[in-house]
Amino acid sequence: MKTILVTGGAGFIGSEIVRQLDAIGKYKIKVLDCLTEQIHGKEPDTSYLYSFIKGKCEFIRGDVRNFDVVDNAIDGVDYIIHLAAETGTGQSMYMINQYNEVNIMGLSNIFQAISLKRKKHTVQKIILSSSRSVYGEGKYECPNCGIIYPRSRRAENMAHGDFTIYCELCNEPLKLLPTTEDSLTRPNSLYAFTKLAQESMIQTMCHAMDIDYTIFRFQNVYGTGQSLKNPYTGILSIFSTLLLDNKDINIFEDGKESRDFVHVTDVATAVIRSIEESRTNGEIINLGSGTGTSVIEIAKTLKAIYNSSSKLHITGDFRVGDIAHNVADITKARKLLQFTPSVSLKDGLTDFCRWVLGQDTDNSRYEQSLSEMEKSGMFIRHS
Ligand SMILES: NC(=O)c1ccc[n+]([C@@H]2O[C@H](COP(=O)([O-])OP(=O)(O)OC[C@H]3O[C@@H](n4cnc5c(N)ncnc54)[C@H](O)[C@@H]3O)[C@@H](O)[C@H]2O)c1
Ligand SMILES: [Zn+2]
Repeated sequence: MKTILVTGGAGFIGSEIVRQLDAIGKYKIKVLDCLTEQIHGKEPDTSYLYSFIKGKCEFIRGDVRNFDVVDNAIDGVDYIIHLAAETGTGQSMYMINQYNEVNIMGLSNIFQAISLKRKKHTVQKIILSSSRSVYGEGKYECPNCGIIYPRSRRAENMAHGDFTIYCELCNEPLKLLPTTEDSLTRPNSLYAFTKLAQESMIQTMCHAMDIDYTIFRFQNVYGTGQSLKNPYTGILSIFSTLLLDNKDINIFEDGKESRDFVHVTDVATAVIRSIEESRTNGEIINLGSGTGTSVIEIAKTLKAIYNSSSKLHITGDFRVGDIAHNVADITKARKLLQFTPSVSLKDGLTDFCRWVLGQDTDNSRYEQSLSEMEKSGMFIRHS
């Protein structure tokens, strides 16, 4: 029986991967996760996500920054699904060392451990969870100049309530295109930089060590189990905790900013399918729904499902480094993995809300997270 190590396997996406792997029953599953407080709370033993995987895997509580821990964890492992990471885009802009240490050194330890085992290592393939954030603003078209990969929007335009993306060459407003994997990468957060660095490390080291790899660029993954405690990520969780308290919601920018939401079960299925699908070896693959949904649309849908009396305020406030829009081109995932997003956004959201209603929600750290970002100049209130 082949062994799979899932780093970060107690997290949101990892726990769903472990659940599906366990149901398939074909592999021995090992999880390496340090159960960070930001995701699992002060008493991780009672963490929802961790409870979800208990008994379904061999669990190693440890930090990917610790070389000895990683070295032991990869013993006898055939496949590694590397998910352990710090994941907050805004937070990454001021917790710079922390993001580099976990995201870059964590992966570096895996290669160091493989290298020290020389020919005795058993690792055949590494699967990396990268992110759409590596594209930065993504792919656009200018009526005059053709394909354009714009840099971040200008903070002074945004401060004046203008959230449009303009062509840097001729100043025309740009039209969004679905982002293909060969699009230019242009990270505009430290988090995105670490994800691109991980990709590059995987490509370089797997090639040199003759290990197969697949790199996934996840879009906005959502679903049952996503952290309701982490105020730094996940608008569905943030909106839900506010809506359930009937607190008003600050919709950033003009509310039209959009994201590509993909359900966690679809993501996990595709990742698992890639383990033994040799056509995915050496490939970078977008995993999304292929459809963009605006933030105001999401807020309205959630408000209706919860029957909340919260008011939705479109404030023009914004976070520096946030992208305007995102839609992935998922042709490659369809072709190589027969990937089809099977959960519609409506069904996925209804299911998510049903789950949230049974959880302890807490939005007390949300305002604090905004003030923290405001102090570091990363969150700007519309004047
Ligand atoms: N959720 C998304 O929408 C999304 C989008 C793009 C990419 N990703 C990537 O997918 C992966 C999983 O994301 P997620 O949403 O499940 O995140 P998550 O925060 O729910 O899970 C991450 C897990 O890693 C663990 N972890 C963090 N630091 C660690 C360390 N130093 N050592 C060991 N374990 C550590 C945490 O305890 C947690 O269980 C991440 O690499 C993330 O960058 C996620
Ligand atoms: Zn132009």
